[in-house]
Amino acid sequence: MKSSDWLVTENGDCLACNLQESETSTGYYRLYRFLTDVEDILESTKDDRQRLEKIRPLVRRLLTSSYWLQGEYREPNPDTGWSVLMLYDEPEFSLTVQTVVWLPGRVSPIHNHAAWGVVALISGEEKNTFWRRTTDSEFPDRIEKVGEQILVPGDIISFMPNAIHHVEVMGTEPTITFNLYGKTDYQQRFEFDPITHTAKNF
Ligand SMILES: [Fe+2]
Repeated sequence: MKSSDWLVTENGDCLACNLQESETSTGYYRLYRFLTDVEDILESTKDDRQRLEKIRPLVRRLLTSSYWLQGEYREPNPDTGWSVLMLYDEPEFSLTVQTVVWLPGRVSPIHNHAAWGVVALISGEEKNTFWRRTTDSEFPDRIEKVGEQILVPGDIISFMPNAIHHVEVMGTEPTITFNLYGKTDYQQRFEFDPITHTAKNF
């Protein structure tokens, strides 16, 4: 099956990105080298969209080469329906690297991340639904649905910091994803309620 790369803009548009043929070096591409490459990109490139363009192929190369990462995850909590395993977490280093598992039938809240993000689907099938704020002066946190995209294993989706989405596990298998996020602006990170037109920090 052909893999796809996607970019979700601040307006909730999900754009197909060209897959780059590069990054197919022989030999291992290990997690520590991936992290230093990402750090170099963040240092040299300040525009989040350009950063994502450069980081997406590295994520694909990492997951192809360091195959062990695909087996690194926690069993989900049956009450919450999900689990997170931090793969790398260093104080004062603004990168979040984790694998996340969601159980079948689960639906996440509608949220943004207030950080750029790259998510690679390792296993299962996930529907992403995209939203954006409307220009309603009475309800500034009112959102409207923009579109949706079903992801299959091998797909990589990337998000601008204010992209709003929620995810839903499709089918009968859990989803396992590799997630990478930049520095979070916690004051700008929200969960949205599409009925009451409100947003709350989380
Ligand atoms: Fe998310």
